[in-house]
Order: sequence, then C-alpha cells, then structure tokens
Amino acid sequence: MKLFFSVLLMFVVAFGHAQTIFSPNKKLSLTVSLSADSVPTYRLTLGKKTIVLPSKLGLAVKNMPSFLSGFAVAQVESSLVDESWNPVLGEMKTIRNNYRELKVTLQQPAVNNRMMAVTFRLFNEGLGFRYEFPQQDNLNYFTVTDEQTEFALTGDHKAFWIPGDFDTNEYKYAETSLSGIDAAAYGERSEIFTAGMYGNFMVQTPLQLKSTDGMYINISEAALVNYPAMCVDVDKKSFVLTSKLAPDAVGNKAYLQAPAKTPWRTVIVSDKATDILASKMMLNLNEPSKITDVGWIKPVKYVGIWWEMHVGVASWNYADVNNVKIDGTDWNALKPNGRHGATTARTKVYIDFAAKHGFDAVLVEGWNVGWEDWFGNWKENVFDFVTPYPDFDVAELHRYAKEKGVKLIMHHETSASVTNYERQLDTAYRFMKANGYDAVKSGYVGKIIPRGEVHDGQWMVNHYHRAVSKAADYKIMVNSHESVRPTGIQRTYPNWIAAEAARGNEFNAWSSGNPPAHETILPFTRLMGGPMDYTPGIFQITMSFYDPNKKNQVHTTLAKQLALYVTMYSPLQMAADLPENYEAKLDAFQFIKDVAVDWDDSKILEAEPGEYVTIARKAKNKEEWYLGAITNENPRTASAQLSFLDPKQKYVATVYADAADAHFEKNPMAYIISVSLVNSKTVLKLPLVAGGGAAVSITPATKDEEKKIKMYK
Ligand code: NOJ
Ligand code: CA
Repeated sequence: MKLFFSVLLMFVVAFGHAQTIFSPNKKLSLTVSLSADSVPTYRLTLGKKTIVLPSKLGLAVKNMPSFLSGFAVAQVESSLVDESWNPVLGEMKTIRNNYRELKVTLQQPAVNNRMMAVTFRLFNEGLGFRYEFPQQDNLNYFTVTDEQTEFALTGDHKAFWIPGDFDTNEYKYAETSLSGIDAAAYGERSEIFTAGMYGNFMVQTPLQLKSTDGMYINISEAALVNYPAMCVDVDKKSFVLTSKLAPDAVGNKAYLQAPAKTPWRTVIVSDKATDILASKMMLNLNEPSKITDVGWIKPVKYVGIWWEMHVGVASWNYADVNNVKIDGTDWNALKPNGRHGATTARTKVYIDFAAKHGFDAVLVEGWNVGWEDWFGNWKENVFDFVTPYPDFDVAELHRYAKEKGVKLIMHHETSASVTNYERQLDTAYRFMKANGYDAVKSGYVGKIIPRGEVHDGQWMVNHYHRAVSKAADYKIMVNSHESVRPTGIQRTYPNWIAAEAARGNEFNAWSSGNPPAHETILPFTRLMGGPMDYTPGIFQITMSFYDPNKKNQVHTTLAKQLALYVTMYSPLQMAADLPENYEAKLDAFQFIKDVAVDWDDSKILEAEPGEYVTIARKAKNKEEWYLGAITNENPRTASAQLSFLDPKQKYVATVYADAADAHFEKNPMAYIISVSLVNSKTVLKLPLVAGGGAAVSITPATKDEEKKIKMYK
C-alpha cells in the first residue's frame, strides 16, 4: 500500500518567512525559519509544549565559506507520505511509514548562490531532518570540519548517557541531569581497551532524556551512510546540545561530493516511555532494502564456543606464546596449551547439543591461527581468516554439521586491523561458502588500522558497509561486534542481522559487569538503532563456579536472563552459556528453546528507562506469544494485560519467574515455573525481585489442556 499525497510546491518570495508543518496526527509541529542573521533554525513542539527551542542548523567546511549563515530561502516543498512496508526480519510484520515532509532549499547569495537543502520529516512520534547538497556548478568536493546542528532543550532534563567516545560504546550508563554530565569523572574506563576522551560534556547518541514534566525525548541519527557517527556536546547552562562528529586520522570529519546528503538527525518525543520503544521512525528514515532476493536471510538462534573463553576455562589461542607470524609460524610445531576451546571434538559437542535442542547454528571462536598475539599490538597482519589451528578440522566439521542439520557460524576477529581484513575479504567469504558457513560474526577489538582512524569515523562507517554489502553478494549474514552503532541501516542491508556496539553480557564475565539497570536503558539507547547481539541466557550466574577466586557475576537473576530474549529485540539470539549449564536446568532452558526470534507483532506494555521494561511479542506466522518483564535493582510487580490475545481462544501460559527469595546478588539462580490457562481478559501480575525478571510463553490450549490446567488467578 502506498499513498503519496499531492506535492505542494511553493516559491517563497519573502526571505526568512517561517514555515510550519504538522505531523499527520497534528500533535507535533515544526517551524523552520531564518534568524535575523540569516541562520536556518527549527523548532519542535508537542501540543502546547515546546520540545526543541529554535535551534541552529549548519556545517563548517574546509577552505571555503561555511554553510552556517548568509542564507536565503530559495524554495519550499511539502508532501505527505503514508505507506507500509514489510521488514525481512523484525519486531512486526508490517511497518507504517507516515510523515509530512518539508524540504527547504537555501541559497547563499554571497557565495555565488551556493545551495544547501534541509529536508524535514515530521512523524506522529518525532522529527527527522538532514542536510542535502544538490549538484551545482559552485560545489563539487568539500570537506566537513564540523557539523553544528543544535538541539536547544527547554530545561535540565534527566539524561541516560555514556561518554562521547568515537572508538567504543562499551560503557555503563550514567543517569544524571544534563547539568550533571561529566565524562571526565566517569569511572571504569580502564575496563575498555579503546576508551578515549573527546570532551568532558560530550555524550553518545541515541541519547534518552526525560524532562521534569514527564516528556521522554530521544535524540539520535538515522541512516548513517558515508559520514561519521554523531555525538552531542552539552552546554550545561543553556541546555543546548550541539552535534560532534567523529574525526578522521588528520582531524577532518567527512569528505563529500555533491550531490550528497548527511544522515538524518532525529528527535523522538512522547509523554509515554512505551511510545519511544514502539517507534519505528529510525527504520523508516532509512532507504529500502538494496537486496532484492532476501530468501537466504533467516533469523538465527545459536549456541557457541564462546562463553567458556570469557569465563576463562578455555582459550582462543592454541599455544601460550606471544610472538607469531601468520605466514611464518609452523603451527604444527607449537606446543598446544591444552585449553584451546575451538577443537573438532568440542565443536561436535556443541553441534550435537544444537541439533538435540533445535538451535539453528553454532559459533566457533578461536578456530583460526593468530590468537597468540592478537590483542593490543596494533599488528597489521594479525589474522588470515582461512587457516585453522591444527586441532580444528574444517572439512570434517562441515560434514558433521550438515549431517546434523546445523549451520556453523564463522568468526572473523579483525583485531581492528581493517586494511588486513579488507585485503582478504573476498578470500574469507569464499572460504566460508566453500565450507558451508552462511553467517559471520565479525569483531573490531582494538585500535584501528589504518592507524589514526576510529571505529565511528567516516572511513570505518564505509568499511562496515563495504563488508556487509560484499557479504550480501556472497549471501552471507553479518553480526558485527565493536562496530559503529546501528541507525536503522538494517532496513537497507537486511543481511546485517545484528551488531553488538554496546556493553554486552560478556562484561559480566570478567569486569565489574553491567548493573541491573543496564538492560532497562539499552532499549531506549543502543537498541533504538537496531538489534543487538547481547548474548543473554547465562544460567551459571556466579563466576566463582569456574574459579573460586573470581568475584565476577552476572548482575541479574536467572529468570531475568530469560526475559532478555523478549525485551532485547534481535533476530539473532545466542543461548550464551555452556551446554553443561543448560543440561543442569533443562526446565528453564525450555523457554530459550521455545522463544521466537522473528515477530509478527510487538506490544510495549510497560517501560521506564533505568527502571523496568515489559514487552510481549507474537511469533512470526504462529499464534504464540512470548513476554519478558525486567526490573533494575528494585523489586516490583510487572503487570501484563493480555488483551492482545485472540478473545475466542484460551491459552496456556508458562511463567518462568524469580523465586520469592531470589535476588540478583544474594540468590540469583532461584526460579519457579508455573503453568495456567489465560485469555484476553487476563492481567498477569509478575513479581520481580531485585535485579529480576520474568519470562512467559503463551500458546493456544488444546482441549485436553483446557480440561487439565487451572485458570490463572
Ligand atoms: C569481543 C567480542 O564482543 C566478543 O564477543 C568476542 O568473543 C571477542 N571480542 C573476541 O573476538
Ligand atoms: Ca565486545
């Protein structure tokens, strides 16, 4: 269905004439005008409330007059779009894309009438806008030195922030007022290898804010293509946020060639936190899929030789030496350390486990040579992506996995040596296809090569896109770790099925970990841009199980680990713990086996950033629902009104809940499972302990079950 309403074209005579448009539901209004000094500004209101005060727009460029002032309005165009599209994988079957567009073409009379346009799209839940540079005689190649987009906020809102850093996003969130932001005082940087300081008052996007009068405001960007990622710098007195772009190796920000356009800058706003999570605006602002034949892009539930390395019982490296050469070392001559995880035998254990429990795939990390000195050496020829260690038999595992109906997931840790990776990409992908792999987990741990570039700069943004689009040529799905955060780009490249790009569950294994509020904030920040490979499902919560000296632990209860499969949307989900830990608790493991990863519909039932999230989702093409409820360090009762169920049907609800005496620190692994009948009138009350959660599977009841199972009370 595509409705494209008539385009209204106006030529504006009077310069500086303010233009106002309304969202399709008329609640949001946007006013664009030129200030007295000919600077373009925009203002956003929701009903009578101002959300963004008049804020300046523009960019500074190298060796030529800036795009900051001296503008006159040349042309204004407006249109209304209402269309729907179906994501290949997603939280819902059909997404409505409904907005009023206003395109303002500006001219600089003093610069030979040089042109820049700003296109605004006003949705019911928010605003997106971007800069466009049309083809013109006076503008060909130009270098952006600064983007000075402002978001002038109305007060000292509460912010859920991580330090502005262009080389990593693996931070814990801080929760302060805007005036309380201080990236310099932020602790625990030492836990993140590439952590860097770019400004004391700079924070990353997506940035979630809450005003004192209860407005939830989310500031971010969409369709990050051929441009660096955006942080915002906070003026703690005026509450004006200004865009800050990731620099390249020589300090420039972006190299553009007209015609060109920047990513969208986005402001999503509502008085309901649930509306923020339900928004599909960032996806809608991205281009439709570049891949036309999408049948090979499938949701993936997987296990892997992974957590055992993170908890320290196995190693990625084969030998305990610290100087190897990819093309010079005789790998067969090395003395194995006896702890190597990626052996043929251990991989078969995982393949058997995956086959027995219905998983699609097995990830194996540490299978290829080079792990002996991969970390921290800024080494260019660090991996080759085709040479297995002597104890990993690629051909035999290809055969074995195929026989068992399980796929293997390739691992490409690049150690951030991206020049090396790019040179080998075709060879690496061809090797994958020849050996039955159709998905890769890539990783970018460490400082980038080309030296001086950063993870979120334009060069790297283009690298991720080259890697993903080449992967599509080979019909390969990509799950990237330590890559730039997604900005809805999975609409355009649906084979980029997930990314990490935030502080994942892995930090719980070996650092101070992720506090209980972490998973209640991520949906409002990192996940606004796209699915995250968070790797939930840890059942053995305390690391002292592996080593009595270890104090590290996962900061959730076991039941909350189950709930994360629903609250953290991803069409790629890992059951991250060891098979042995699942075998010990098969009753709770049943939820991970059952839960879907691709959905017809999603209902955000309750949410408050930093506090709690309750979401229900309907499995793709099935009459089955899965529900997850999580809390921070405070116990509370989640409430789930099941009115979304078919009113003619009774369902069996299996509730995986925290035991009454459970607690994320004191008693994290105590859970109870109960079964009852529910219908569309049921309101489930789910008690969550401190750091706890609840997971529920809801399936249509058979006649027999209707007789045997009691109605929920
Ligand atoms: C960091 C990734 O996030 C993690 O999942 C992986 O195991 C290591 N790098 C090694 O590649
Ligand atoms: Ca990581």
